[in-house]
Amino acid sequence: MVDLATTYLGLKLRNPIVVGSCGLTRTVEGVVRCQEAGAGAVVLKSFFEEQFSKELEAADQGAWTFPEARDYLEKGGLLEYTTDDLSRLIEKAKAGTEIPVIASINCRTARLWPRFARQFENAGADAVELNIFFLPLDPKTAGLEYERLHFEIVKEVAAAVSIPVSVKLSPYLTSIPHLGQRLVEAGSRALVLFNWFMQPDIDVKRMNTRSAIGRGDFHLSLRWVGLCAGRLNCDIASSGGVRRSEDVVKLILAGAAAVQVASLFLREGIGKLGTLIQGLEAWMEEHGYASIADFQGEMSFKQQDLSHKEASAAEAYFRSQYLETFRESTEKSK
Ligand SMILES: Cc1cc2nc3c(=O)[nH]c(=O)nc-3n(C[C@H](O)[C@H](O)[C@H](O)COP(=O)(O)O)c2cc1C
Repeated sequence: MVDLATTYLGLKLRNPIVVGSCGLTRTVEGVVRCQEAGAGAVVLKSFFEEQFSKELEAADQGAWTFPEARDYLEKGGLLEYTTDDLSRLIEKAKAGTEIPVIASINCRTARLWPRFARQFENAGADAVELNIFFLPLDPKTAGLEYERLHFEIVKEVAAAVSIPVSVKLSPYLTSIPHLGQRLVEAGSRALVLFNWFMQPDIDVKRMNTRSAIGRGDFHLSLRWVGLCAGRLNCDIASSGGVRRSEDVVKLILAGAAAVQVASLFLREGIGKLGTLIQGLEAWMEEHGYASIADFQGEMSFKQQDLSHKEASAAEAYFRSQYLETFRESTEKSK
């Protein structure tokens, strides 16, 4: 019998599989279903700053700067999900389940984050995940400025709450380990690699633009989990592209403390969580590992770098060009 228990953000998880922020974690019933399916923890559907703006507007205190964004959120029903609703969801989810409940917030400015985080902490959230993304639209704004906004937000939230804070990053940043290290210094206890986004598309018949659903990229997460784990003073969680239990094993070997999964459960049902767990257990039994700690990070860049294994194993994390592969395949075809 293997022990799947692990620690993420200082919280005890019965296993490392976390249901990532998505529609499955938007209601108490949804959170209960995740617990029943075997989840180690859940990240609630993000609270968006735009939702708060609607509350302000209802109180005649504010105005909308981006009407299109509001339309988009209203059509998705997201604006019904206000700060008080989310606080009630957290309270009920905590009362009705035993697994850690992580609140998630997504804001466009640094101003409102601490306030939201404190409210969700008071409602009983075990941790808060900051879902930060700035699309660098302005040709006059350097990348460093967007990174500075990340530090500012994390610093302010971490100072405002006593629960652990994690940051879910976008992959479109320059030096992820350096940024990660500075976010840890600003108060983040974990990095979640990475978020998923709507992608632009063009309908060439109707001649209009539209948003297409993006995809979590498993290998992108695997690379950066492997490069960051054990080298930054924080937990690393993966998010992106998990389809099979073998993917969970790979991410833990790369050093993930928690493996977040969303699309698979949305598409194939939360029952898939049990399949991931069974596969993880079977792999551990087959390889003689009694606990997660016995193999977590075993194949991380840091571990391989310091071990006496072949250097080529660690090289896989930073190799990004195809010269050798290309040469090998052309030689084979001769
Ligand atoms: C329908 C849908 C809704 C999502 N909503 C959120 C959200 O509110 N906040 C967030 O941080 N991530 C959200 N995500 C991103 C997921 O949490 C996850 O990071 C991403 O989908 C990559 O993981 P996956 O490949 O397992 O889906 C959403 C994903 C999907 C598919």
